[in-house]
Amino acid sequence: MVSFPPAPYCLSHPGLADRIKSTWSGWTLGEIERGLEGVVIGRSAITYIDGELGILRYRGIDIKDLAKNSSYEEVAYLLWNGKLPTKNQLDEFTRSLANQRRVPEQVISMMRTLPKNADPMEVARTAVSYIAAYPRKKSETFEQANHRKALQLTATLSTIVSSYERIRRKKKLSQPRLRLGHAANFLYQLTGKTPDHETEKAYDIVCILYADHEMNASTFAACITASTLADLGGAVTSAVATLAGPLHGGSNQRVMEMLEEIASLENAEKFIDYELGAGRRIMGFGHRIYKTFDPRALILKEVADSITLGSKNRKWFDMAEKIERYVWEKKNLRPNIEFYAAVTLNALGVPRDLMPSVFACNRIAGWVAHLFEQYSDNRLMRPLTEYTGPQETSYVPVFQRN
Ligand code: ACO
Repeated sequence: MVSFPPAPYCLSHPGLADRIKSTWSGWTLGEIERGLEGVVIGRSAITYIDGELGILRYRGIDIKDLAKNSSYEEVAYLLWNGKLPTKNQLDEFTRSLANQRRVPEQVISMMRTLPKNADPMEVARTAVSYIAAYPRKKSETFEQANHRKALQLTATLSTIVSSYERIRRKKKLSQPRLRLGHAANFLYQLTGKTPDHETEKAYDIVCILYADHEMNASTFAACITASTLADLGGAVTSAVATLAGPLHGGSNQRVMEMLEEIASLENAEKFIDYELGAGRRIMGFGHRIYKTFDPRALILKEVADSITLGSKNRKWFDMAEKIERYVWEKKNLRPNIEFYAAVTLNALGVPRDLMPSVFACNRIAGWVAHLFEQYSDNRLMRPLTEYTGPQETSYVPVFQRN
């Protein structure tokens, strides 16, 4: 007599449980989509997306309002605590983040020992893991240590990324400035110059837009790690590693590489035809969830427009606009956040191979929010696969094998 295990818990597709059957060979799945498309893996009160209407809200507040009126620190507070801070709460939170910006000297030494052509995202991942290896203080609970690490990693990731950029270019490190906000301080540490208001605001908007995006691949990776009750540092390390891929956070770099390869307005359409003809993807286009405009791309297009106006970087914006029109015409695909993020970050002086790690410097607020939520109502994530390998097979000793 075979006893069937209970059907897996699935929130999004009430019918799915009925389509899943247990057989002699294990689980079989009916129509589950590759890449988990459309599968809801849990409940969350953090970020709302309507991919049909192009709506994105953090804790109920529209992303357009936040981009216009808020700051990265305020958004991080909102994501972590569920509501906007009072003036005092915001001041205190901003101060605590700023106070944590310095990274331990050993981390700087470790980055100096890495090859100068190491990928910045891999360096960031290694440095996060290094910092996370500092053991919990005796007086701290697991939760207290996670909260401390959340603040520390959110504050230090920008220092790690900007410092590595200066180390590999053999420049003197710029120490963090406590009086500058998250956005201005990063640009200062990266370039050695305090940004003007427009530049700071442009980057702050990038930071806000990158801060969270529901259960994307890197956030999912972080939550899976945390579901084993591994610590927050380990979960953020998983997230950085996952963000690095070209289908996720690595695509802003690929967009800039593509624009540089195209090099002129005249080449844009030819290049797109060639790439599509070869069956390749156009970086910065398409999205798993948005079936209309990615609202972040609309905001960043305006930012890219104004930050490049009248500068030598205008040509990238003009080229991007032309590509946007042409890819829509040819493929009915809209740009995602990464397309105009690349143009904006380039205008802000971010080298193209640093762009994915700049994404990480800001998505960390969202990772942490989801990790807090995961720890507060945890159950080990342990999904299933449908077995497609050989049926029962006998072991053949090595000397009898052909
Ligand atoms: N260029 C050309 N064709 C594309 C693109 C693209 N950028 N994106 C999707 N398509 C096509 C696919 O070839 C496929 O066509 P087909 O049905 O004729 O084979 C169809 O659209 C559906 O594609 P899927 O891969 O099933 O879509 P999925 O939801 O899995 O992919 C993804 C989403 C990964 C973002 C995809 O659009 C892509 O590869 N884009 C380029 C990389 C990119 O910009 N990533 C950043 C995403 S935003 C972020 O992570 C922050």
